[in-house]
Amino acid sequence: MTVAIMGGTGIYNLPGIKVTEKRVRNAYGDAVVYLGQGDYDDVIFLTRHGVDHTTPPHKVNYRANLKALKDLGVTRIMATYAVGAITTGYPVMELAVLRDFLDFTSGRETSFFDTIERGIGHVEMSKPYCPVMSAKTIELGPAHGIGVNDGATYVATNGPRFESPAEIKMYQMLGGDVVGMTGCPEVYLAGELGMAFAAVALPINLAAGLEENITIHEGNIDMVREKMVRLMLDVLKNTSDEDCKPPLLL
Ligand code: HPA
Repeated sequence: MTVAIMGGTGIYNLPGIKVTEKRVRNAYGDAVVYLGQGDYDDVIFLTRHGVDHTTPPHKVNYRANLKALKDLGVTRIMATYAVGAITTGYPVMELAVLRDFLDFTSGRETSFFDTIERGIGHVEMSKPYCPVMSAKTIELGPAHGIGVNDGATYVATNGPRFESPAEIKMYQMLGGDVVGMTGCPEVYLAGELGMAFAAVALPINLAAGLEENITIHEGNIDMVREKMVRLMLDVLKNTSDEDCKPPLLL
């Protein structure tokens, strides 16, 4: 069993865990992954923006990243996203467990099923985020001293610009709870490759129009970051491949 943690803004390593860097090349491009050592030799870490945060959301090679994890034997993934909060149920600096998404991205490579050789495949998305890992996140959150709120719908925008207040109003009306730039196509590419996928988002600001100017609570990320990673490791350890089935391919 091999599991992976995909980190977003503010999550550039696994605190206190020794890793070795590995560069991987596949048909979709290059990816850099970090292989856990010692007690964590079944954990792979991938930071989607790069360790120096040099890759913007619209330039991330999502397919190369996911294919790299698949080729390394990963069966289950927990992902993190820094987001803006759209609704009051998801306060800044408390985790939002994702259960659904609205995909407003465009111009990205969105499928592995895009050649005649691969054939036609439709990944089923009625439960995009693994219910078992999500429930375990809710259960174990308090023990890690971190607020966890369930049931968030993630709005994926293209970025790198932030949204306008009218866009945020629209996303509110559509049922969005948090907004970020990297959640899609990652979640359904993982599904296409048969990997179970769950995600927690960390609101670091109120979305556009909800306060006079957007304030990013960057300084506080460090406080939550380590707890968040430890929680994800705990969730991965306390769930299994038998419990967590990837979405169906139709
Ligand atoms: N909008 C989009 N992406 C984000 C935000 C936001 O307000 N905050 C962090 N990532």
